Amino acid sequence: MKFFIDTANLKHIGEAKDLGILAGVTTNPSLMAKEGISGDEAIRGHYEKICQLVEGDVSAEVLSVSYGDMIKEGEKLASIHPNIVVKIPMIKDGVKALKYFSDKGIRTNCTLVFSAGQALLAAKAGARYVSPFLGRLDDISTDGLSLIEDIRIIYDNYLYETEILAASIRHPMHIIECAKIGVDVITSPLTPILNLLNHPLTEKGLAQFLSDAKKLS
Ligand code: G3P
Repeated sequence: MKFFIDTANLKHIGEAKDLGILAGVTTNPSLMAKEGISGDEAIRGHYEKICQLVEGDVSAEVLSVSYGDMIKEGEKLASIHPNIVVKIPMIKDGVKALKYFSDKGIRTNCTLVFSAGQALLAAKAGARYVSPFLGRLDDISTDGLSLIEDIRIIYDNYLYETEILAASIRHPMHIIECAKIGVDVITSPLTPILNLLNHPLTEKGLAQFLSDAKKLS
């Protein structure tokens, strides 16, 4: 299972990269706005910086919702760097755009996926990644993990090459459960990734080892 970071914050991306386990980055318009990035040039420049920082796929989301505009915008985004993956919303024009980009060999990430039917359409249209939003389903008392299990079964049944990219991760247990299901990628903010490190017995054991180590010299 690959680890992507879900942020446009360069400091967080750098910190995850320094851990040595980072395989990619996902962003969305909300995450870009949070960093104060606005306007075509600034957006382009920010993606260039992320691509220089990380060796791996970087999802860049289109802001348009009509087929023609998504194609124009997606092609511009894809021209920024070979690692850019064009992120397309799961709407009717989005499915058409996924197919267009797939036919052209441009990789895509189908976002805002909340049902198995949507994930099936994304795979049929040739999306490279499908992003089911785990936390947002949990937020409305719906079982996000069971959706991801369903997508895994469907994709395995037909050997679809679309990778399941579990998104909207809120805590370390989401990451563990996704690994148990066998998703291909999780994308998470920095904190849930760092929280995987924590265990009180590790801290207690290390304190004991360090204390005993002083007796050895
Ligand atoms: O990037 C898409 C997704 O990960 C958003 O997560 O926390 O806003 O539901 P969240």
